[in-house]
Amino acid sequence: MGNDRRYLRFPVPERVEHWIVVLSFVVLAITGLVQKYALVTISQGIISFLGGVENVRAIHRLASVVLMVEAVYHVGVVLYKLLVLRVRPTAIPGITDLRNALRSLAYNLGFSKERPQQGRYTFDEKAEYWFMIWGTLIMGVTGFMMWNPIATARLLPGEFIPASKAAHGGEALLAVLSIIVWHLYHVHLRGFNMSMFTGRLSEEEMIHDHPLELADLKAGVAHREPDPVAATRRRRIFLPLYLLAGATMLFGIYYFTTFEQTAITTVPPPEDVVVYSPLTPTPIPSPIPSPTTPAEAPQSWSEGFADLFAQRCGTCHSSTAAFGGLDLSSYASMLAGGDSGPAIIPGDSASSLLITRQATGDHPGQFSGEELALISQWIDGGTPE
Ligand code: HEC
Repeated sequence: MGNDRRYLRFPVPERVEHWIVVLSFVVLAITGLVQKYALVTISQGIISFLGGVENVRAIHRLASVVLMVEAVYHVGVVLYKLLVLRVRPTAIPGITDLRNALRSLAYNLGFSKERPQQGRYTFDEKAEYWFMIWGTLIMGVTGFMMWNPIATARLLPGEFIPASKAAHGGEALLAVLSIIVWHLYHVHLRGFNMSMFTGRLSEEEMIHDHPLELADLKAGVAHREPDPVAATRRRRIFLPLYLLAGATMLFGIYYFTTFEQTAITTVPPPEDVVVYSPLTPTPIPSPIPSPTTPAEAPQSWSEGFADLFAQRCGTCHSSTAAFGGLDLSSYASMLAGGDSGPAIIPGDSASSLLITRQATGDHPGQFSGEELALISQWIDGGTPE
């Protein structure tokens, strides 16, 4: 033992790609989930910390552009490796991976004593890589539909827009959970894999996780250097084609992100609404004959006031519905008052609860100012029945 040889796994450009993906993914996840679960307290905290939902949306889109540009770059890198350098593809899943997955399961459950021997990318790494590609595609397409609903509705039935919102949110949850459960476990908990920080794995780690690759490396067959002349020729063809395709894709992204300003709203923008605006005792248009006309002005409970009370207060203060314990449907029950005691003190309107409660103007049922004046007069005059 004691062999501290280290094997290069990810050169700097690949690590940079990884960290760009991490950064944009985390930003997308946070700014996306707080929109998906906008009513949760913690989401509201984050939204107001970021300065409101419009900012959250802007940041989400910016991060999505970063991820899309990274995707275009990644396609270029992969194609360059495969077509120009003619590197052996190592991330393509095959039947062996299925077998390795089953063997690994058997080993974990104790049915088998041997872990599967795997190469440069283990079956779980391949699965994660392809899930990420699949997820990014889904998120890109559904994101496009929400970002540009009008263009979408021109090509597809309108149901696709809410459907894409559902798929976007569902896939997001899947991606975040799989990173938390799967990636965090396999890469960081089961044994902290430092290769995305240092770029390298130790001999021990190579033996443990990638024994077949290690064997190839030792045998010198892991990297076949391409024939330089042929590679140069291929590069001359590849680079202009890729630059053209890449530029087209970048233009596509630019077009995609700017041509329509009709993105659907995820969280309705806040608006100021008056929830309750107290009435001041001002004349209310009333269906009953105006009590101000001298001839018709109520004189006593039976002549006018009973009707007026029934009109204005009857819904909430009757023998069947007496809020606050107050029944204003009969002279006796009116004098008896409600939960706070007598509503009326004959001869003393200023101390009568009915008048003081009405004077504030914020009761759910209100007399007009004129009506209130008449009632005060009636009370001060001894409150005749
Ligand atoms: C829409 C329903 C509603 C209408 C209409 C209404 N009230 Fe009330 N009133 C209440 C409720 C609810 C309470 C109990 C809660 C409170 O005290 O505010 C109450 C309580 C009261 C009380 C206090 C009772 C006590 O003993 O605590 C008085 C006095 C009163 N109302 C007078 C009136 C008068 C006079 C009218 C008619 C101009 C009226 N209310 C119309 C809902 C109503």
